[in-house]
Amino acid sequence: MANPSLLILPGDGIGPEVMGEVRKVIDWYGANRDLSFDVSEDLVGGCAYDKHGKPLADETMAKAQEADAVLLGAVGGPQYDVLEFKLKPEQGLLRLRKEMDLYANLRPAQCFDALADFSSLKPEIVGGLDIMIVRELTSGVYFGEPRGIEKVGNERVGINTQRYTESEIARVARSAFELARRRNNKVCSMEKANVMESGVLWREVVTEVHAAEYSDVELSHMYADAGAMQLTRWPKQFDVIVTDNLFGDMLSDLAAMLTGSLGMLPSASLGAPMANGRPKALYEPVHGSAPDIAGQGKANPIACILSFAMALRYSFDQGDEAARLEAAVEAVLADGLRTADLMGPEGGTPVSTTAMGDAIVAKLNDSL
Ligand code: NAD
Ligand code: IPM
Ligand code: MN
Repeated sequence: MANPSLLILPGDGIGPEVMGEVRKVIDWYGANRDLSFDVSEDLVGGCAYDKHGKPLADETMAKAQEADAVLLGAVGGPQYDVLEFKLKPEQGLLRLRKEMDLYANLRPAQCFDALADFSSLKPEIVGGLDIMIVRELTSGVYFGEPRGIEKVGNERVGINTQRYTESEIARVARSAFELARRRNNKVCSMEKANVMESGVLWREVVTEVHAAEYSDVELSHMYADAGAMQLTRWPKQFDVIVTDNLFGDMLSDLAAMLTGSLGMLPSASLGAPMANGRPKALYEPVHGSAPDIAGQGKANPIACILSFAMALRYSFDQGDEAARLEAAVEAVLADGLRTADLMGPEGGTPVSTTAMGDAIVAKLNDSL
């Protein structure tokens, strides 16, 4: 049988640096676990704009639709901030999400024991934390129409529209309930039903889907602002959180800091199953292109490496191999290896991006 195909889009800034370390891990699986991929690489974001004049070429979009899974590094950079909106690097990523219909964005926040002291919250608050944020990714205010900047009278007005259909809410709710059944069986849905009609509908539909199909799962609702407060107060009260596109964007950055660093958080963006039974899927770290540290060997590659672990689990049915990779990451952290973002007063051994990748591969070797 042909090897599964992986399309790699390293992107901008630290994207290519962290993806370089993922390539080492992919090669390791090919050499040691009889798990080879047919890998191809292409451009997205600012680098695609530089070459093609747009942040995602149509040929790259077509390749992404065909791939068994897509791995993305990060997009964006200050030099592109002046571009008109539809040419900005971020639009390349948004096009991938929208056209592949990747409606369920899984953002796990797990605090590794070795980092519990490093989080900006107390170790007893974050130690052992393991939550999953399910962010709706293809609708809401990110894509709603009308949008734009218009002249009204003698001033400009910026317009975006929060819009959700029942079916958009129902399908992401199902994703959250399904995940919860394989975890601790609890879902908390977050919206602003107190001020937004889209929030009222969100709460109603989640409640209906729950009653009809998932009454075995414990369901609660929270306003998203209170949810942010509860995430910092006592995050271990949560198992799965399901929320909309914009709230999910913010709450997942917040959750990242519970785990120690934005450089730790992976994500999987999943759509409907393809003909081969695998979900349409794109895997990417939650962090961005980090222009402030790009090109300096400082980036933490763990978020991107753990995103590949999610690909092993969700696209390739290799949960044991995903667990092997997660254990290798945990072991390296337990040894005290720290990229710059993980260096706190309690110290550790400072390592570069590539040294962190090499150390994880060494732990994979030890696992054999
Ligand atoms: P960012 O995530 O790039 O950086 C925020 C802070 O976290 C920075 O101080 C950065 O140095 C640090 N950081 C991020 N990832 C790190 C890593 N792996 N290792 C060590 N430190 C890390 O967010 P930003 O500064 O708000 O945005 C920069 C650019 O990235 C913007 O153009 C933005 O649009 C884009 N962005 C892209 C994505 C994506 O591609 N998925 C996500 C978020 C932001
Ligand atoms: C993320 C990013 C993106 C988003 C940007 C870069 C389009 O912040 O993946 O969290 O807002 O979704
Ligand atoms: Mn974000």
